[in-house]
Amino acid sequence: MKNLLLQFVVLLCTTALCVANYEHEHTATYWNDQAQARLQKQLLRRTNTGVAKNVILFLGDGMSIPTLTAARTHLGQRNGNAGEETELSFEKFPYVGLSKTYCVDKQVADSACSATAYLGGVKANKDTVGVTAAVKRGDCDAMNDVSNHVQSVAHYSQLKNKRTGIVTTTRVTHASPAGVYAHTAERDWESDTDVTLAGKNPKTCLDSTVQLVHGETGKKLNVIFGGGRRKFLPMFETDEDGKMGNRLDNRNLINEWKQLKANTTHAYVSDRNSLLNIADGTEYSLGLFDNGHMSYNLERDSNKQPSLEEMTIKAIELLSNGKEGFFLFVEGGLIDKAHHDNKARLALDETIEFHKAIEAAVKMTNETDTLILVTADHAHTMTLNGNENRGHDVLGLGGLAVDLLQYTTLSYGTGPGYKPNKDGRRHDVSKDDLTSNDYGYPTIAPLLSATHGGDDVGIFASGPWSHLITSVVEQNLIAHVINFASCTGERTTACEN
Ligand SMILES: *[C@@H]1O[C@H](CO)[C@@H](O)[C@H](O)[C@H]1NC(C)=O
Ligand SMILES: *[C@@H]1O[C@H](CO)[C@@H](O)[C@H](O)[C@H]1NC(C)=O
Ligand SMILES: [Zn+2]
Repeated sequence: MKNLLLQFVVLLCTTALCVANYEHEHTATYWNDQAQARLQKQLLRRTNTGVAKNVILFLGDGMSIPTLTAARTHLGQRNGNAGEETELSFEKFPYVGLSKTYCVDKQVADSACSATAYLGGVKANKDTVGVTAAVKRGDCDAMNDVSNHVQSVAHYSQLKNKRTGIVTTTRVTHASPAGVYAHTAERDWESDTDVTLAGKNPKTCLDSTVQLVHGETGKKLNVIFGGGRRKFLPMFETDEDGKMGNRLDNRNLINEWKQLKANTTHAYVSDRNSLLNIADGTEYSLGLFDNGHMSYNLERDSNKQPSLEEMTIKAIELLSNGKEGFFLFVEGGLIDKAHHDNKARLALDETIEFHKAIEAAVKMTNETDTLILVTADHAHTMTLNGNENRGHDVLGLGGLAVDLLQYTTLSYGTGPGYKPNKDGRRHDVSKDDLTSNDYGYPTIAPLLSATHGGDDVGIFASGPWSHLITSVVEQNLIAHVINFASCTGERTTACEN
């Protein structure tokens, strides 16, 4: 009865008029009923100690907690609501923990050391991927010592004949996806040219693209979707968009991938339509949709480039064909890129795209046998300033400071959005075009690229053993929970427990 009443109130109040005045929120009944409905849901919760046949790890690069707050508010406001009360898809997950993201040698993490932690279960040095902290940045000999290698959850899934895949909006050889398959002392060694420019020998110091196509874990990946064609192609060869490759060794690694897969059902695709038309049952798929990182969703030619949601749906369809289940890594990689430029509007939109991909994955899978984890590798310095009224545009102005000039609701600690003082006065943000996708929100210190933030990030969990995700934990626990729940890896698992 009370639930019915609540539903009625909510229904009544989805009209713009009611929302504008928040009249439904003026009674104690609304809040009591709302909390009681949630309480009932919590009471019905049963721990799931089954085996995770499938695991999907969603990684929002640079997706700090303030990014979530601002993104959900922005999403609600786009839909004509006040905004603050909106829930992102994964915010409905039953279990949440906090992840401490620092790396072995740095207070604030980058995407490389953190990928090693959440995918490999071992903390490492900044800028290194898939190797222990015994490997210093740029040390090729140490990187080639296999006793320093850290194996990812994808590797262990493959040992159990599970299908595996990666989906990202960045280059597929960028630091986060590289954590799935690469072992490198330098995240930037994505092509032989990168290795050569660093003064190393690319024949002995293998770049991440070669590792993706030929490496033990990389070559077994059933799905690889993202950007980064130039790292696969020779310098004077052009890709589907007429853009040049980046390799000096004259290798075409897209062709090498096709040759390696010659005796299997496989597909190489480079645009949205071909992605959507990959035949069901195709064992290996490589989709490269850009020469570099893929475009921001707001700037994407949607006839050419698929959305993160579309890539995720296709990946799950293809991976679901395996008998033993699958492991899929999905990265919303451009949240971080936008934050580095202080472009909060783009960062929030990319976070909303990430939320949509997770919503689709939840619909396509069953929580009885699929563990879904959603987390970030590190935070960013964006902050959400008071004291505007409820429902105020989260991307707008925030109020007057003591210098009688406005500040913005969102601002950053560091980055290129810095606005110098003029005539001894602070920059007047009220004259700026805050509706531009490219607007750089103000910062304290000018840097060409914003630094990451060192604050903890959330881990949201649903499915078998998701109740292990709780409390404040070291980031490398994530890989151990995945191995445990899916009965993979070299330590104790749910199957022996
Ligand atoms: C594909 O099969 C042919 C014929 O059996 C064989 O010669 C070739 O080496 C195979 N190629 C790969 C990449 O396994
Ligand atoms: C999920 O799987 C369980 C166990 O096999 C089944 O009872 C349930 O109906 C499934 N749920 C959905 C939504 O398919
Ligand atoms: Zn970054």
